[in-house]
Amino acid sequence: MSQIHFVGAGQMAEAIIRAALNRQVLAAGDITLADIDSQRIATLRERYQLDTTLSDVQALAAADYIVLGVRPQDDIDGVARHICQFASPQTTIISIIAGVTLERLSGLFGLDRPIVRMIPNTLTDTGLGYSGVVLTPQVQPEPLMPFLESFGKVMLLEERLIDVFTGFAVAGVNYVYYFIESLSDAGVLSGLSRAQSTQVVWENLLGAVAMLKISDKHPRQLMDINNSPAGVGINGLYELNNSDFAAGLQRSVMTAVRRTTELAGSKPA
Ligand SMILES: NC(=O)c1ccc[n+]([C@@H]2O[C@H](COP(=O)([O-])OP(=O)(O)OC[C@H]3O[C@@H](n4cnc5c(N)ncnc54)[C@H](OP(=O)(O)O)[C@@H]3O)[C@@H](O)[C@H]2O)c1
Repeated sequence: MSQIHFVGAGQMAEAIIRAALNRQVLAAGDITLADIDSQRIATLRERYQLDTTLSDVQALAAADYIVLGVRPQDDIDGVARHICQFASPQTTIISIIAGVTLERLSGLFGLDRPIVRMIPNTLTDTGLGYSGVVLTPQVQPEPLMPFLESFGKVMLLEERLIDVFTGFAVAGVNYVYYFIESLSDAGVLSGLSRAQSTQVVWENLLGAVAMLKISDKHPRQLMDINNSPAGVGINGLYELNNSDFAAGLQRSVMTAVRRTTELAGSKPA
């Protein structure tokens, strides 16, 4: 891969670096870092054996890609001014900053600049989970995709959907963790050990997804197959139908989407 420079070497930048190194899409020599906290740079350089000797200015000048890993409330304008001073106008900017629009990024980095706006998923170590990605027309996708796909699957989106994607897809892993915990509790409540219950929940989850993929059926069709008249399954589902399960889940997603758009200062799609 080309030279890639991370500005803001926090949790998300580290997760991306770890995944890209593990998948051998990046080598240690391809990566340089900048962070307001020099101790953080030293920690990551030691942890991932990043052996570059380039100074900050040299790293900016050498970078083919610059990942913006600072937070929305950080001094993004100052970061952009510093980058523009030393990086080539052809260097592609990859922003993972939630809520910062392409319009703002183009204002900061130039209208002709190749810019990627993306929201990575936090499942970076697994290779699963979608990152939401928007590319400007100046971006050449072919050389870039292996890097983007090294820390998640890529879903190309219209920019108006990126905040929705953040609230639904990126925050969405929480609902799955919560569902697993709740269902595992139900097994313990019914008399299984925690280990037995967790084992069953994980296997059912993986199996259900595999069945949906293999059968190409709607979940309701598979539920119909599972449920004999007056049987165990339909009695269990009756109770769930009487609960707030579906609406509660949907309200949670809508609240997360609303919060993303609030933080981003944009309007829901
Ligand atoms: N975490 C997630 O689940 C997630 C998911 C998708 C997208 N994102 C986005 O990813 C970005 C990073 O999130 P994170 O969780 O990795 O945050 P983080 O751990 O706080 O990392 C941000 C880093 O940037 C450094 N920094 C601040 N100002 C800087 C500057 N002017 N120049 C250089 N470095 C600077 C911070 O240093 P100090 O701490 O010393 O200030 C910190 O090390 C955010 O914009 C967030 O919206 C996060």
